[in-house]
Amino acid sequence: MTLRVETILGENLVAGFNAAGTIKKGLPSGAYTSDDFFRLEQEKVFQANWSLAGFAHELPSPGDARPGMLGGVPIVAIHGHDGRIRVFHNVCRHRGLKLVDKPCSGKKRITCPYHAWAYGLDGQLLMAPHFGGIGKREVDGFDYADHGLKEVRSEIWQDWIFVNIDGGAGDFQEFLAPLKDYIGDLNLATATPILEMDSGVVNANWKFLTENFAEPYHVPVVHPETAAGQPLKDHYMIKDRNLVGCGINIEGDLHDLQPPEEKANGRLCLDISAWYLVLFPHFNFFVYFSDDTHVYVMLNTPLSPSQTHQRRVIYQLGGEVPDQETRDAWRKLNEDVIREDWDMAERLQEGRASPAISDGGIMSPAWEVGEHGFDELIMAAVSR
Ligand code: FES
Ligand SMILES: [Fe+2]
Repeated sequence: MTLRVETILGENLVAGFNAAGTIKKGLPSGAYTSDDFFRLEQEKVFQANWSLAGFAHELPSPGDARPGMLGGVPIVAIHGHDGRIRVFHNVCRHRGLKLVDKPCSGKKRITCPYHAWAYGLDGQLLMAPHFGGIGKREVDGFDYADHGLKEVRSEIWQDWIFVNIDGGAGDFQEFLAPLKDYIGDLNLATATPILEMDSGVVNANWKFLTENFAEPYHVPVVHPETAAGQPLKDHYMIKDRNLVGCGINIEGDLHDLQPPEEKANGRLCLDISAWYLVLFPHFNFFVYFSDDTHVYVMLNTPLSPSQTHQRRVIYQLGGEVPDQETRDAWRKLNEDVIREDWDMAERLQEGRASPAISDGGIMSPAWEVGEHGFDELIMAAVSR
């Protein structure tokens, strides 16, 4: 049985979060620590919405398949012979074995390693060997057509595969609209992946990472060197429907990352106009503006209330792909920024064991508007 959010977090704390006033509270601590809340969130946030499931460029050819987890549910994306990428529940229809356990390519069919049921790349069951006895694949009352892989509702926008597990989310274009409206004529058609990073597992709830991403208040404190060129005063807040975040407009000319001679001194830093956008629930999309604008997409996968896996892909919009040395320098800069943010996220997680902060703390009305907007979307989703 699904518990109500008030039962999990406490009636008073939920009321406190929802209370009107200039100074807003954050989500009660149970939202970051409770197993019950985690289950509720998997269902009502990740399964019930359009959620980022993966990157289409990782399945470039027919016969490519890539497994993943979304909302606690095993899924698999398969590139079919017809050129379409479909997403399925990643379970064999015979006894429920997880079908694909690592990325693979060149498949003509997907064969279960347990009793060798075989599925076409479009999900159809092709073969259930010896199901009715030796050499007997057909059995009365068993229809192959009823036992194909179960498809999950999915849509691909640019390089990004979105999935709605429970099938009940609204129109996909409506979901995308706030982001599309915001980015206007940013030309994503030319986006080429130039760097991929698997940062591993952070010991923090996924929401701490998103909240941190959506607020600039910490930037001068946590990233005094790595983001030395992004002063707090130049930031602004973003909140529109299911889109939240912040942006920064560097006064004067748009800067670029520092020139190569500076990199040699280890002084590469962010000094660039940018958007940090979250399309609820977890499409983290950031843009760094320069002559060769870059788009980052970050995929946070919650593993438990206190553990999150993080990957990111960096795209360049047009222009020449930077050389290996430059990409290595970016990777290093990203790793440094990530470590600085993760240290804070892990300490937030530790702090939430204290009863002194069970009401969620408070938010700056100037700088944590996007962050609070995200928390409101979480609360609305789990209350539904
Ligand atoms: S569980 Fe897959 S063939 Fe038996
Ligand atoms: Fe940060």
